[in-house]
Amino acid sequence: MKGIILAGGRGTRLYPITRAVSKQLLPVNDKPLIYYPLSALMLADITDILVISTPEDLPQLRRLLGDGGQWGLRLSYAEQAEPNGIAEAFLIGADHIGDGPVTLVLGDNIFHGHDFQEILRNAVATVDGCTLFGYPVSDPERYGIAETDAAGRLVSIEEKPRKPRTNRAVVGLYVYDNAVVDIAKNLRPSARGELEITDVNLAYLRRGRARLVDFGRGYAWFDAGTPESLFEAGQYFRLLERRQGVQVACLEEIAWRRGFIDADACRRLGEELAASPYGRYVLSVVDGGWL
Ligand code: TTP
Repeated sequence: MKGIILAGGRGTRLYPITRAVSKQLLPVNDKPLIYYPLSALMLADITDILVISTPEDLPQLRRLLGDGGQWGLRLSYAEQAEPNGIAEAFLIGADHIGDGPVTLVLGDNIFHGHDFQEILRNAVATVDGCTLFGYPVSDPERYGIAETDAAGRLVSIEEKPRKPRTNRAVVGLYVYDNAVVDIAKNLRPSARGELEITDVNLAYLRRGRARLVDFGRGYAWFDAGTPESLFEAGQYFRLLERRQGVQVACLEEIAWRRGFIDADACRRLGEELAASPYGRYVLSVVDGGWL
């Protein structure tokens, strides 16, 4: 299973912050936003990952993440010249995807909750068509909204509906079989000139090959695209980490616990960062921390 993180976009809802800095590099509590979606892929044992971003932002993302070898990952990079839509990721990433399945995560989406990794790992292991993930929201008019039948099959997706049929938002994490590349190649741009991810999902829906897995109320999902949600996500993780003393999206910890790197490698990474609480946390877990 290949992974893609789509981390471009203009981030206009965060202007002026994002005039000179990628949204994905902004801090959420003590780490860059992109650590969270990257950690989601790592938790599902996806290690061969393409990072797509703008020509301006790609060099900084590369500086932050490197080739991924330090975490036992294989990271590669590709440019999206203009924000032509989320589904363009499958055209830019066609070679990376090859003839297998792919999981796409948006660079500004954050997931947290009990069993999150099991849910994603299960979706990845059983991919057949596409698997979308739903999350209950209080303002469904702002999202792509999914409806399922009694058996849990997806029956409709509506983009920003005026009269929402459900409160289930489709989040920015998608698991596809290889048909996604052909589907994306045959898409036409929408009225706003973008290759829409909803159109990809509707193509799977029409073939009867789309399913929705619900993240229930025991999960947190943030799309950190506005000042409020960016701030709230930071507050949420700060509170959690202060209360529990454990970190969310600490890449070194995940790499070590998943067996991508050994304890010595993890300790070396922690030592490089030892001036920060993040680095000291890495050292504490690898040297027999709390969990
Ligand atoms: P959006 O939040 O829809 O777009 P944006 O990041 O440009 O922000 P704004 O609406 O404030 O201008 O994008 C969701 C995620 O997908 C985000 O991480 C950026 C990424 N994205 C791309 O990389 N390329 C694209 O063409 C689009 C539409 C989004």
